[in-house]
Amino acid sequence: MTRRRLPGELSRAQELARMLRVDHAGEYGATRIYEGQLAVLGHKPVGRTIRHMAAQEQEHKATFDRLLVKHKVRPTALSPAWNAAGFALGAATALMGERAAMACTVAVEEVIGEHYAAQVERLRTIGENEEDAALADTIARFRDDELEHKDTGLAHDAEGAPAYALLSAVIKRGCRTAIWLAERV
Ligand SMILES: [Fe+2]
Ligand SMILES: [Fe+2]
Repeated sequence: MTRRRLPGELSRAQELARMLRVDHAGEYGATRIYEGQLAVLGHKPVGRTIRHMAAQEQEHKATFDRLLVKHKVRPTALSPAWNAAGFALGAATALMGERAAMACTVAVEEVIGEHYAAQVERLRTIGENEEDAALADTIARFRDDELEHKDTGLAHDAEGAPAYALLSAVIKRGCRTAIWLAERV
């Protein structure tokens, strides 16, 4: 039999609430990153590609908006910070050029993709009913979208961005910190 939980660990409901809160925060941040990119690059040919990804982020966020209400989970207290930081990250990297904007996309989507993959696995372990299974399926679908965004970034020569390795490492670190915070605050 699989061990599910040790004493002192979060209950299933607490764990679900934490997942929904962090995912909602992440999708909110993602919509703001793409809005920041579009503020700078929206009029360029690449704007069309970015708008497509932005529209998917809106759909992801709308899904978690509904799930938060349904499960009576409060959003992270840090929403205003994601609002500003997401937009700033998107706009700043876009100002460095299209490849830097795409490097930002690759870094962010890679971290979110890993985060979702881990969640899907966890949900399939602790899930108790059809609703939990449906949530796992939804997150698995979003994970696929995020990995598609990452591939789009790579196809647009993200790795050709100036100081790619550094840029990527800094953004990934920031995303992991944001996830850690959103799970707790
Ligand atoms: Fe997303
Ligand atoms: Fe995405």
